[in-house]
Amino acid sequence: MASNIAVIGTGYVGLTTGACLAHIGHDVICADVDQHKVERLNQGELPILEDGLEEIVRDAMSAGRLRFVLGAANAVADREFVFLCVPTPQGEDGSADLSYIQDAATEISPHLLSEAIVINKSTVPVGSTRVVERALRRPDVSVVSNPEFLREGSAVHDFLHPDRVVIGADDQAAAIRVASLYLSLAAPLMVTDPASAETIKYASNAFLAAKISFVNAIAAVCEAVGADVADVVLGMGYDKRIGQEFLRPGPGWGGSCFPKDSHALVHIAENAGYQFSLLEGVIEVNEQQFDRVVDKVRVAAGGSLDGVRIAAWGLTFKARTDDTRDSPAIKIIGRLQAQGAEVIAYDPAIHHDIAGITVAADPYAVCEGAAALVVLTEWDEFKWVDLEKVGAALAKRRIVDARNLMDRNRLRQAGFDYQGIGRS
Ligand code: UGA
Repeated sequence: MASNIAVIGTGYVGLTTGACLAHIGHDVICADVDQHKVERLNQGELPILEDGLEEIVRDAMSAGRLRFVLGAANAVADREFVFLCVPTPQGEDGSADLSYIQDAATEISPHLLSEAIVINKSTVPVGSTRVVERALRRPDVSVVSNPEFLREGSAVHDFLHPDRVVIGADDQAAAIRVASLYLSLAAPLMVTDPASAETIKYASNAFLAAKISFVNAIAAVCEAVGADVADVVLGMGYDKRIGQEFLRPGPGWGGSCFPKDSHALVHIAENAGYQFSLLEGVIEVNEQQFDRVVDKVRVAAGGSLDGVRIAAWGLTFKARTDDTRDSPAIKIIGRLQAQGAEVIAYDPAIHHDIAGITVAADPYAVCEGAAALVVLTEWDEFKWVDLEKVGAALAKRRIVDARNLMDRNRLRQAGFDYQGIGRS
């Protein structure tokens, strides 16, 4: 059954949520505070790169089921469901900053229908459902937690084919109404209390980050003992209790979620009287991983980075997104620069200088005269480059592949000194 929905905030989560809910048949109004963004969205222009999103936005708009308005108050008047998808940035002490969510709740409160349901989709600290209830001051309105599990780059797919839908509510009737929005997705649905739903989100991201830190630590062990991490991971992953996913070694995890959410969970636990040393270790191993990549580049460059030119491929925090927030690539380049390196970067999704980094428009141009090339993001196109052109441009044929992306045999045959992660 189609429902009337408002989505507040058109970032990655809000825009994907609004467009996908419209795609599965609901009537959706999305609101944002940025007038320019709203105007562009109403013309079908997307502010982000997200596989499949443009098509479903365009289709839902032409079917009359999706539109964009300026200001939350203008979106909610006749809506049965209001999704809050506003940012929850990391505050100075590591905790999540709830001011956007509180402001949004205060703004919509006088305009909400009686019996409307306000749904927290933003990742919010445990207890935030109550914070929204207090900001709303509307006893006739239920507040429900419904965390998102969308990966950037495959957010539309993840929304339409979820592993599970989690609904946290004290009010069972409200939970059932929210569950009805997702029925056509035929996904496992789980109803729990709000604190458990909020904790499921943090625990899931923290566990995934832990898997990656674990495999990056195993990669360091592999280097020390002469094992090959690719085979080790494959062998581990056949065990169904472990699984193959999220075991790719790399330059460390980043993005707008894992770093922010792992620090927030350490903070939430600490405030509640538990020192989450395991998760602190996961974060520490990730910091070490950035330095391990920097060390490999320094060795490849001949022992010192001072005044040395380095070529970097990749700036986004992973491939198939244009998002550079908390990108390991940018952190690593910053650390190379701090040791005196002159870094020039190329990324297929970034076309301007960023964070004090010079960005060139072509993967070969950045290699010109560089003492080494470091691969930081796993863009497919890097696999298909003309190695002779790369070798001719570099001052020395040296590659540090922080994603284990390139074909090391082909590189070695072409005379490159190749260093990956966790394999010789
Ligand atoms: C992550 C979660 O995967 C989503 O389930 C969650 O909804 C989202 O955060 C969120 O909280 O909003 P996302 O940050 O888009 O999604 O990206 P991931 O695909 O999870 O990758 C995160 C980082 O881990 C990237 O830097 C990626 O390169 C790295 N990674 C991932 C690895 O180094 N190895 C892997 O095997 C997988």
